[in-house]
Amino acid sequence: MKVLVTGGAGFIGSHVVEWLIHKGHSPVVLDNLSSGKRDHLPDSIPIYQIDVASDEVKNVFKEEQPDAVIHMAAQTDITTSILHPEEDIRTNVLGTIQLLSCAKEYNIKQFIFSSSCAVYGDHKGLMNEQTPTSPISVYGVSKLAAETYIKLFYQLFGVPYTIFRYGNVYGPRQDSSGEGGVVAIFIRNMLLKQDPIIYGSGKQTRDFVYVQDVARANEKALTSALNDTFTIGSSQTLSINDLYHLLDGKLPGNYSPVYKPEKDGDIQQCVLDHAKATKYLNWTPSVTMHSGLDETINWMKKTL
Ligand SMILES: NC(=O)c1ccc[n+]([C@@H]2O[C@H](COP(=O)([O-])OP(=O)(O)OC[C@H]3O[C@@H](n4cnc5c(N)ncnc54)[C@H](O)[C@@H]3O)[C@@H](O)[C@H]2O)c1
Repeated sequence: MKVLVTGGAGFIGSHVVEWLIHKGHSPVVLDNLSSGKRDHLPDSIPIYQIDVASDEVKNVFKEEQPDAVIHMAAQTDITTSILHPEEDIRTNVLGTIQLLSCAKEYNIKQFIFSSSCAVYGDHKGLMNEQTPTSPISVYGVSKLAAETYIKLFYQLFGVPYTIFRYGNVYGPRQDSSGEGGVVAIFIRNMLLKQDPIIYGSGKQTRDFVYVQDVARANEKALTSALNDTFTIGSSQTLSINDLYHLLDGKLPGNYSPVYKPEKDGDIQQCVLDHAKATKYLNWTPSVTMHSGLDETINWMKKTL
């Protein structure tokens, strides 16, 4: 299939592109390279360096006539999200609507969206697709709004969709320089012999899922016409303190965590039940936390 991957030069997007090539598909990337990098992609992959919310998106559909869309482009920076919430609306909501309009016009066979467990807000215990949504961050609100438009375009115009709500995705190529994922930031700190910062008590939990597992889920959805939502996580939980100790065991050094006040919009607990994805998409996470962390450490050692 020819697949338009928005945000394909980013962390998860570049792994999705790699996996699509591996499975014999033809990916084309749309990315404004605001955080993504051309280097993340093989030279052979066409890339349109444009904004997902711009009118130019229409030209890409006209030129490429994709069979499916994997929509991953998003404003994911927490500081921007708090200081300029309109940026989340523009990219994450208006950008999604722009793509949906094109998907409708060009009879796209599958529209796959990267949402987040941030749509749930704070919940105790295992969360699944039935858990009520109640986001407590600007980012979570924008993802939930995008999900709502996607379902509406299916109901009104029959645009087929799959929505994935990911836990905390980690792995090689994750940005560690600013506000990327906690795994990447801790590994970078430890390799550079810096004290990692933990916001809040460190007892907050996350569901970590390896990036290649997420890429596999996206490819599996390409040929499914389920028009449904799936939580994608490991169904296991780890606190930030535990993550620190796990990494400390792998990268022993003379550092200790520095505790700072918790950030606004930070959820306390996240553990996702992936049973529905297993049942309908035959997807289960295949990479253990230990080997996923080892892969990430090895990659980071080569790039720092
Ligand atoms: N990383 C995670 O743990 C996680 C968890 C849940 C959901 N997600 C979602 O998965 C997707 C990919 O996330 P990621 O971690 O790879 O982030 P990322 O920042 O590495 O990738 C996002 C990509 O989108 C591009 N982009 C941003 N704004 C754009 C715009 N206006 N027009 C075109 N391109 C634009 C960026 O250049 C980047 O390449 C996002 O939708 C994100 O919300 C990520």
